[in-house]
Amino acid sequence: MCGIIGYVGKRKAAPIIFQGLKKLEYRGYDSAGIATLHDGEFFIKKDAGKIDDIHKRLNLTDLPGSIGIGHTRWATHGGVTKENAHPHTDCHGNIVLVHNGIIENYQELKRLLSGHDMRSETDTEIIAHLIGEEMKNGKDFVEATKSTLKKLEGQYALLILNKNDNRMIAARRKAPLLIGVGDGDYFPASDIPAFLDYTKNVIYLSDGDMAVIDGEMKFFNIDLNKEVQREISTIDWDPEQAKKGDFDHFMIKEIVEQNETIQRVIEQDDSFMLSIADEIKKHKNVILVGCGTAYYACLTGSYLFSKIANKYVIAVSGSEFSNFKGLLNEDTLIIAVSQSGETADTLEAIRAAKSVGGKVFSIVNVRGSSLDRESDESIYTKAGPEIGVVSTKAYTAQVAVLLLLAHAVVGKLEEGKNRLKNLHALVYNLTALSTRKYLRRLAEKLKDEEHIFTIGRGLMYPTALEAALKLKEVSYIHAEGFAGGDLKHGSIALIEKGTPTIVFVTKDTERDVISNAMEIKSRGGYIIGVGPENNEVFDHFIKVPEVGFADPITHIIPMQILGYQLAVLRGCDPDKPRNLAKSVVVK
Ligand code: M6R
Repeated sequence: MCGIIGYVGKRKAAPIIFQGLKKLEYRGYDSAGIATLHDGEFFIKKDAGKIDDIHKRLNLTDLPGSIGIGHTRWATHGGVTKENAHPHTDCHGNIVLVHNGIIENYQELKRLLSGHDMRSETDTEIIAHLIGEEMKNGKDFVEATKSTLKKLEGQYALLILNKNDNRMIAARRKAPLLIGVGDGDYFPASDIPAFLDYTKNVIYLSDGDMAVIDGEMKFFNIDLNKEVQREISTIDWDPEQAKKGDFDHFMIKEIVEQNETIQRVIEQDDSFMLSIADEIKKHKNVILVGCGTAYYACLTGSYLFSKIANKYVIAVSGSEFSNFKGLLNEDTLIIAVSQSGETADTLEAIRAAKSVGGKVFSIVNVRGSSLDRESDESIYTKAGPEIGVVSTKAYTAQVAVLLLLAHAVVGKLEEGKNRLKNLHALVYNLTALSTRKYLRRLAEKLKDEEHIFTIGRGLMYPTALEAALKLKEVSYIHAEGFAGGDLKHGSIALIEKGTPTIVFVTKDTERDVISNAMEIKSRGGYIIGVGPENNEVFDHFIKVPEVGFADPITHIIPMQILGYQLAVLRGCDPDKPRNLAKSVVVK
């Protein structure tokens, strides 16, 4: 949930780390800090708050040295305070480190450290003390770190420095960590955008890996207890994709980009897609799994497989997956859906399936992520870096991949591709400035509402759920989605005069969902229709084209824009909603 970056090279480390942390801020933004090593001294600055504010107060870039580490935090253990901000040191200030993840046995380990002066409430600080303790007992930096890592339970991506040593140690277990490899520079980091301005060459660390970095790199795997080799791969992302350009926020930039990102989904290799479809056909027990927005993509997928391919595919939320473990066996095929490929619950689900011999495919955006590497096959969503914490272009790309797969299962891959091709101009219009202005006027009307409801039937049911999530997570207005027919089973009691309800309409659901809209309207509800044709029941109408099975894509886009506009009007930061982190790497 936090972001870490280090630098080892010939340039001044602090400005590079500072810029990298700004790129990683989407992973956590309640505190930040940097430590550098220069002439055998550590220089550390850290505080609570957003990184730009901390920089204004402390000037984070004037730390000397060409080796250093940085951290941007999403608090798990301990409040949002300067003391709990990373980097953390041992008692004597010989070891300094940053950590992303959770040490689950930190309380037991802390008991072994009696007499140590702990300055924070974090699970992280004990790691520095443990390494210090091992070194006191005669081990060198690398051996002391190895022994310490063997004691840790939980998830970690760690960057560690020792005052008397010019080497940096990077280590990971169940938390993302990769190393950008430049020309004589090394950039260990949580995610690619942190170093994309400097290099496209990257080494993905495996679970249990530890890299020792100075003028070169050596890799050791704690589980295998031996030295290992790791290859350099080249990233196909463009540094410009990770920048805001002329847009005020990443969220709106990424919404507008969907016109291109959806088209990139079509570039999948046909024979590969057909082989995946073949496996889906062969397996009786196919489970789609994802969290949050990715789960709503899964739910959409289960409708698409049913409607297009007449194939029963169940969608399960990653956080609830353990309740279905009993259903897993070697005939199970899990299709995990994730933007980051690092969501803890999704990873736990695929590991459970693999442990009983099941097959795992993933639909993932980040190449080289844990999910990508642990899956038997990966279909890349090719959406490019999604920096906004709120998922937009990754979601429509996930739905587009599922739409292609559902078509491929019944030998209609070409038809699926044509459906997506047809979206090009339509999505362009849906994200055009004129549409954004139109939705801003609606946002002005809704900005002081306490509640917004969304309803839809069929494919529009998961769309209603995703729309409600989009609106609430970014604007903090309570929003709730329902299946159109469910409202009258209880929730209609919440409708009062003027309660806004967004009604998603498609050709096949029109009759029934319009009746549901009538039921709400007759109780005073304010009806906002999203569909191909206006209707007298609507108080406000958002026109979207009728595109059949691709409706979940077209109908969600105005909701992404509306959420964005509401956030801006209400003074919320759309790129970094409160309490959220982009990658939820803890359970
Ligand atoms: O990286 P993932 O797609 O696995 O992330 C899953 C969810 O955490 C993510 O979609 C989350 O719900 C976002 N806040 C949605 O905007």
